[in-house]
Amino acid sequence: MNESIIYNSPFDDRDYEKFLLEIKNHFQLDLSGYKQHRVRRRIDMLMRKHSMKTYSDYMAILKKDDKLWDEFLDKLTINVTEFFRNPEKWEYVEKTLIPTLNKDNPSGLKIWSAGCSTGEEPYTISIILDKMNAPASTKITAADLDKFVLQKAKDGIYDERSLINLDSSMKSKYFQVTPSGKYQVKPDLKKRITFKQLNLLTDKFDSGYDLIICRNVVIYFDNEAKEKLYKKFSDALRPGGVLFVGSTERIFNYREIGLKTFSPFFYQKEK
Ligand SMILES: C[S@@+](CC[C@H](N)C(=O)[O-])C[C@H]1O[C@@H](n2cnc3c(N)ncnc32)[C@H](O)[C@@H]1O
Repeated sequence: MNESIIYNSPFDDRDYEKFLLEIKNHFQLDLSGYKQHRVRRRIDMLMRKHSMKTYSDYMAILKKDDKLWDEFLDKLTINVTEFFRNPEKWEYVEKTLIPTLNKDNPSGLKIWSAGCSTGEEPYTISIILDKMNAPASTKITAADLDKFVLQKAKDGIYDERSLINLDSSMKSKYFQVTPSGKYQVKPDLKKRITFKQLNLLTDKFDSGYDLIICRNVVIYFDNEAKEKLYKKFSDALRPGGVLFVGSTERIFNYREIGLKTFSPFFYQKEK
């Protein structure tokens, strides 16, 4: 969809401001860090879908119906993902990055997939760790804002199309085919992963991570929110730990926040 910067909403601006404030106060979701034209366009789409004339009317039904709130969250966040997205980067993770991190921390790594969507990213890491015989103490936290995608991640059932980067031996090793022809991750892949709901813009982070993966999430954030988030990630890494970002993403002030480039799209916390 073309999401151009200029967007003129047909609905009332003041009512919209009040709506955003209610979203923050009632639902504890602060949308101020997101690209505003995008947020408004999507909210307006939902307004039309539910034949709402004012944002206040839409707020009233959102408060009454949990399903509508889940839909709201789901539509505001784009969840597109796949296993081994940008395969060459994952090859680098397997061949170079994890062995380097292991040298500092051989007893087991602490890994975080931040903005994990429906789970393909944390399961990708879990497959890599399994191939490398990583110790059971290597753990992955997989977090997302959206409850709906997290449930899908926990279920671990996928269409063949999200497995496009896997060869047939990997498919048969790590998945079982369901009666309806879908692919379900085998239970072993889930053992290292803890799924949790978390808002990257407002929640506190744990610390001491060896590897934080945050890819294709900040594209929805404005520059100020991005800068704050990267600083929070830097603080959450152990010295020598690495932040892995998306293939179109750059951290311009990486030195100021205590990072150095490890290789393109991988930033390392200064030791
Ligand atoms: C396009 S997906 C990226 C999935 C995966 N990282 C990848 O690169 O394939 C973006 C995810 O970011 C999540 N997200 C958006 N805003 C968030 C926030 N404030 N906190 C946590 N997750 C957020 C969305 O719910 C969505 O699942």
